[in-house]
Amino acid sequence: MSDQHAHQGFETRAIHAGQEADPLTGAVVPPIYQVSTYKQDGVGGLRGGYEYSRSANPTRTALEQNLAALEGGRRGLAFASGLAAEDCLLRALLVPGDHVVIPNDAYGGTFRLFAKVAERWGVRWSVADTSDAAAVRAALTPETKIIWVETPSNPLLGITDIAAVADAARGAGARLVVDNTFASPYLQQPLALGADIVVHSTTKYVGGHSDVVGGALVVGDDALGDELAFHQNAMGAVAGPFDAWLTLRGIKTLAVRMDRHSANAARVAELLTAHPKVNRVYYPGLPGHPGHETAAKQMRSFGGMVSFRVAGGEQAAVEVCDQARLFTLGESLGGVESLIEHPGRMTHASVAGSALEVPADLVRLSVGIEAVDDLLADLAQALG
Ligand SMILES: Cc1ncc(COP(=O)(O)O)c(C=O)c1O
Repeated sequence: MSDQHAHQGFETRAIHAGQEADPLTGAVVPPIYQVSTYKQDGVGGLRGGYEYSRSANPTRTALEQNLAALEGGRRGLAFASGLAAEDCLLRALLVPGDHVVIPNDAYGGTFRLFAKVAERWGVRWSVADTSDAAAVRAALTPETKIIWVETPSNPLLGITDIAAVADAARGAGARLVVDNTFASPYLQQPLALGADIVVHSTTKYVGGHSDVVGGALVVGDDALGDELAFHQNAMGAVAGPFDAWLTLRGIKTLAVRMDRHSANAARVAELLTAHPKVNRVYYPGLPGHPGHETAAKQMRSFGGMVSFRVAGGEQAAVEVCDQARLFTLGESLGGVESLIEHPGRMTHASVAGSALEVPADLVRLSVGIEAVDDLLADLAQALG
């Protein structure tokens, strides 16, 4: 983050960092530089430092600087998807024989990347309950290079104490990676808690409007930033200019959206907790959640994701999903509109039969920013 923004509040950084008025026209929003290459003034004479848009593009630069500022980091890198960001990170930091600790409750696609892709290249992994720092320590081997954490986790909303696991990582000479997708940088800033790298699916809360797929890495160390930027260019899965622009547009309202997501989700969790057809509610804002105190310590509020288990098993859970009207049945999360899904058959089908398998009676909600009474009424009718 540049010194200019270091002392500004989050909302100010969201709107201004990396987004100074266009020097050519004064446009207050960075233009979409829909361009692949740049005229050079003589061989090697670059006008603005740009030579080819895989290496760098001004709209993407604006987003990357903004993401770095939001996470309190030194360098942000924007990718074509969250998984592209994760893949770049793995290939930049791991060689055959290295070992990674992954959470026992992670996004199915992250698990698939380790189990079905990285493993073929000789990267080894094991699963730990990252909400327990002692379990993470027990999973470490001399070859462990990365501890991967998702907090809150997808789909069970598990909470990991980032500072405690950062301690374990430092002690083992490993790097701590935190997938901050569920919290967004407004609710939680892992670098300040000792993480080395933050991962985002910017498809979710950061973009916030279900209209763009993207990913990001943010680091607090210049040398590591250079290493990742080298791989970003070498591998090439960058965010396009229009996608970068859409993501920046979403970021401007991130703070106000997250406040409303959290407030609405708290009300939804309350309704579900009291409902006779709900066996268990997973929401870190509930005092009974095992990670509640840690979440209260490291998050500004508890976010917009709520999962719950339906009495009556898998079929009953599927029926709730089918009955919802205002909650749209669909994958993904973090947009302004509310979504409902059945993780076992949808987002987490890829972890079936693994240590990460999710309960069959689980329903996941991405609580949007609609009028909360309408959301509560829809859930009440869907539960019957
Ligand atoms: C927590 C988390 N991390 C990473 C990803 C992958 O991001 P993308 O779908 O943008 O590739 C997702 C996608 O759902 C996710 O939920």
